[in-house]
Amino acid sequence: MLESSTPAVREMPLCGVKFRELHVDEGLVVIRGACRDDRDRLIKFYESLDSETVYERFYHVVKDFSSYVDSLVEGGALVVVAELNGVIIGVAEAMACREDYAEVGVVLAREFRGRGLGTALCSSLGSACRVAGIKGLVAYARRYNVPVLNIARRLGATIKRGPEPDLVAIEVCLED
Ligand SMILES: CC(C)(COP(=O)(O)OP(=O)(O)OC[C@H]1O[C@@H](n2cnc3c(N)ncnc32)[C@H](O)[C@@H]1OP(=O)(O)O)[C@@H](O)C(=O)NCCC(=O)NCCS
Repeated sequence: MLESSTPAVREMPLCGVKFRELHVDEGLVVIRGACRDDRDRLIKFYESLDSETVYERFYHVVKDFSSYVDSLVEGGALVVVAELNGVIIGVAEAMACREDYAEVGVVLAREFRGRGLGTALCSSLGSACRVAGIKGLVAYARRYNVPVLNIARRLGATIKRGPEPDLVAIEVCLED
């Protein structure tokens, strides 16, 4: 007799991984891997960003963040979140772009910037990518984006000309 079975739902790869905790004036920020259960909170976080931040992160207007978040959740992306009192305040993610390479993006709520959280998100994601066997990371940023360029240099990145005059390509080699 045929048994009816529901296909197994794949959990996100970094779900359950706790990377760091950082104290800020507002409380304890936990840097951890995202889980499927975070979907709605991720959408809420992206929808809360001002248009300038969205442009810095995505280089274009984004109208539908639920599709973007679903592509992360269903696409096996490595996603690290910064969480304060149960609210997501920052995200760094790596999405496979070609064999063993991933494209990375990071964004933090404006009111929490300048306190090391962006660096903590990126270094946690970098460590997770290395453990996952990813050989190299690439990110695109506007050439005047000092915070992300500082983080990139700290992580040993090479900064190259980007696909558009205003953009640079940030490349990090994770192979020893
Ligand atoms: C990029 C981003 C995540 C950095 O987050 P953050 O928490 O402010 O970063 P940190 O506090 O860890 O600081 C990182 C570096 O930038 C510097 N920095 C932070 N804010 C700065 C500012 N306003 N002006 C100049 N430098 C600044 C810090 O001194 C630090 O440099 P150091 O390591 O040499 O001391 C945040 O600015 C952001 O969300 N920007 C919008 C999205 C974006 O641009 N994403 C990148 C494209 S994918």
